Amino acid sequence: MSELRVIKYGNPILRMKAKHIENIDSDVKQLANDMITIMQGEEGIGLAAPQVAQSISLLVVDMSLIDEEGEPTAFINPEILTSEGESVLEEGCLSLPDIREDVKRPEIITLRYQNIEGEVSEKRFDELLARVLQHEIDHLNGVLFVDRISSLKKKMFNKKLKEIATEERVEIV
Ligand code: NI
Repeated sequence: MSELRVIKYGNPILRMKAKHIENIDSDVKQLANDMITIMQGEEGIGLAAPQVAQSISLLVVDMSLIDEEGEPTAFINPEILTSEGESVLEEGCLSLPDIREDVKRPEIITLRYQNIEGEVSEKRFDELLARVLQHEIDHLNGVLFVDRISSLKKKMFNKKLKEIATEERVEIV
């Protein structure tokens, strides 16, 4: 496997807008597979390509953690078409170790995306899957869940965020 690692808060790649994928070639498929391996190794439920320093519009979700018959699945060029309702749920992120907080998001979304074979689907997602997809799509737009909590709550994490960013700078150099 390639030398991918999960990059952390403070790495500028996490703030970039991910590029649309024009051609789902063998590199993209390999990356999706590698991301699934990393996600499962880190016991994450989702992972977006920018989190492994690849700023392209690809994310993976481990559907097996949501549905017995589900399996790890790649979503390419996902686009939220509609959203409705509201729910509050605690989130965490592999790029923000040891930080967890309640985040308010729409409860149900309709998503247009391509699967790993390039086929376009439009599907409605709710509950945990809608939550994970929105969190990962945020990554494709350079947004982190701590951007979606109150500034007061974010202040509580300031020290921790600085520590993570300091460690990440050491990794980048
Ligand atoms: Ni995340």
